[in-house]
Amino acid sequence: MIERPRRLRANKQIRGLCRETRLSASSLILPLFAKDGSNIKSEIPSLDGQYHYSADRICEGVERSLEAGVDKFLLFGLPDHKDEHGSQAFAYDGIVQRALREIRSRFQDEVYLVTDVCMCEYTSHGHCGILNGQTVDNDKTLPYLERIAVSHALAGADMVAPSDMMDGRVDAMRCALDENGFENVPIMSYAAKYASSFYGPFRDAAGSAPSFGDRKSYQMDYHNVKEGLKEAMTDECEGADILMVKPALSYLDVVRLVAENTNLPVATYSVSGEYAMIKAAAKAGLIDEYGVMCESAVSMFRAGADILITYYANELAQAIKKGDIG
Ligand code: PBG
Repeated sequence: MIERPRRLRANKQIRGLCRETRLSASSLILPLFAKDGSNIKSEIPSLDGQYHYSADRICEGVERSLEAGVDKFLLFGLPDHKDEHGSQAFAYDGIVQRALREIRSRFQDEVYLVTDVCMCEYTSHGHCGILNGQTVDNDKTLPYLERIAVSHALAGADMVAPSDMMDGRVDAMRCALDENGFENVPIMSYAAKYASSFYGPFRDAAGSAPSFGDRKSYQMDYHNVKEGLKEAMTDECEGADILMVKPALSYLDVVRLVAENTNLPVATYSVSGEYAMIKAAAKAGLIDEYGVMCESAVSMFRAGADILITYYANELAQAIKKGDIG
C-alpha cells in the first residue's frame, strides 16, 4: 500500500500539524442585546446563555467576553418606544447609541464595536423599512438607514453592518458616512441575507417579528445561490468592506461561492436558530453541545469564511485557547 492517509491522523500532534483550517479568537464577533431601561441583566428565554442588558449594565457582558478572549461585538437595540418611522433607531439617546457610549467610555480601544443597522426592532409594524401600504418602500427607506448609520458612528461605532436588504443601501450609507467625516468607518454588509426561519429565536429576543406578512420581498429566496453572489458583488461595487452571508450552517455553499469570487473578507452569521437548535438538542440529551458547537464553527471557516458572528463566541474562544479547534 502506498497511500496510507491514516499516517497523518495517528496522534494529536500530527493532526495539529496537518490541519487545513485554522481558527483564531480574533475572527469572532459576539452579538449583544441592549435594552431600554435600567439595571437590567436578564437571560433571553429563546437564547439560553444570552442576555438583555440595559446600557448601565452592558459592560458586564463585554467584560465577560474580554475575559474569554473576545473583543468584538455586534450591537442590537430593544427600544421601549416604537413608531412607524423607527425614530429610536437614530435618536441621539437611542438604546444602541447609549450602549455605545457606555462601552466606549469604559473600555476605549480595548473593544471593537459593530452595530446592526436596521429598522425592524424600532418600527411599530416590525418591517425593516418605511412602509408604503403593505410593502417596504426601498428608496424612502434609504435616508433613514443613512441617518441610523451616521448616528451610530457619532456615538462611537467602529463599523456599521446594514441588515435591511434594501437595494442601494451600501452606496447610500457610504456617501452619508463620508459626508459626515466618517470615511474611515467600514461597512460590513449583510450581503446575501436569506429570508430564513432560522431567525425565529432572535425575533423573540429582539421583539422584531413583522406584525403582518413576511420579509420575502426584501430578504432572499433560499433556493438561490447565483443571486447571493450577485448581491455580494453589488455590495462590493457599492463600497462594502466586508461581505456577510447569513445564516451560516445551511448556506455554506453560498459562503464558499462568495469567498471564491471576492478579495474582500467574508463573514458569516451563525444565527439564533442554529444556536437554539444546538442548545435544545443538547438539553434533550441528544447531542454533545461542545462537540457540535466546535464542529459547526469549523465548518464555516472551512467553507471559506474569514469572520464568524456567533452567540457561541465566548465558548469558541475558549475551545481555541485549549487547542480543541483551530
Ligand atoms: C435585523 C436582523 C435580524 C437578524 C439580524 N439582524 C432579524 C431578521 O432579519 O428578521 C437575525 C439574527 C439571528 O437570528 O441571530 N433585520
